Amino acid sequence: MQLQDFGFETTAEQVTEGLDLKGKTYVVTGCNSGLGLETMRVLGLRGAHVIGAARTQEKAAEAIKATGVDGTPLVCELSDPKSARAAAKAIVAMGKPVDALICNAGIMALPEPRTTLGLDLQFLTNHIGHFILVTESIDALAKDGRIVMLSSGAHRMAPSAGIEFDNLSGERDYAPWKMYGQSKLANILCAKQLAKRLEGTGQTANAVHPGVIRTNLVRHIENPDEMLSSMTLKTIPQGAATQVLVATHPELSDVTGKYFADCQVKETLHDQAENAELAEELWAKSEQLVAQLTD
Ligand SMILES: NC(=O)c1ccc[n+]([C@@H]2O[C@H](COP(=O)([O-])OP(=O)(O)OC[C@H]3O[C@@H](n4cnc5c(N)ncnc54)[C@H](OP(=O)(O)O)[C@@H]3O)[C@@H](O)[C@H]2O)c1
Repeated sequence: MQLQDFGFETTAEQVTEGLDLKGKTYVVTGCNSGLGLETMRVLGLRGAHVIGAARTQEKAAEAIKATGVDGTPLVCELSDPKSARAAAKAIVAMGKPVDALICNAGIMALPEPRTTLGLDLQFLTNHIGHFILVTESIDALAKDGRIVMLSSGAHRMAPSAGIEFDNLSGERDYAPWKMYGQSKLANILCAKQLAKRLEGTGQTANAVHPGVIRTNLVRHIENPDEMLSSMTLKTIPQGAATQVLVATHPELSDVTGKYFADCQVKETLHDQAENAELAEELWAKSEQLVAQLTD
């Protein structure tokens, strides 16, 4: 199968068929569940070393054991800036060039506002935690390394302004999908700004929508089966395909700043997703927040 033939039904094994990833190193956050677990399994199947990040050492070690990959467990609690910073430091200290950092972990649509360290927990976990991990481990990224940010088609549910900088805590006005959408729009804007900052280096950054897949992500939804019943679902192997493709496919080595879905470059779904000024503003605000949070 060729790149142009990949689509909705393609699996992570299919996008890596014939690829030899021996000698390569990948970081996968949220490696113990759903798409992260499958991503780690398939990277390992193709011979890669995987640094599997989870909230606890036990979860990471268990996932590595379950998938049988050549892996190193890493603790990374993304809602704790100090933990994200320690994880980044540990990646750098391992001394192996990272071929791709796959920012996969996430939480979705918490029914009630959960403000942590002054931020909506989804924004803190999905965006700020990964922002710290990426920016503070960037020295470990291989010369042709890739950053893959898991976003979601739900970024279209972000507020019309894109990012509500005056409501990052969610306390002024909270709606579960709006705040999840905002965090996933932040993932896209962050990938775009990273792509800009990495211009000329040979390193890339892209965002991915994996599809709609029945995983533990629905843990905060009251009646998930009802919600999913009207949608065309992917299996977990299909859901992991786009992120594995973007992290590994040789033909994508110089593709950067894009949004992928169904294993292809796609248009983003929100007016503000291509707003370069907003991406810059988010980057500056994230730096400022991180400085405060890790003081
Ligand atoms: N499934 C879908 O339909 C879908 C659609 C669009 C986008 N996505 C995106 O795809 C990514 C993977 O989702 P999934 O479906 O595989 O969900 P999942 O099965 O719930 O896995 C999410 C992973 O993130 C981890 N995680 C959550 N909070 C964390 C924190 N504070 N610190 C560190 N890790 C944390 C979870 O760890 P624990 O198990 O310890 O909680 C788990 O390993 C997410 O970014 C999600 O937004 C998924």
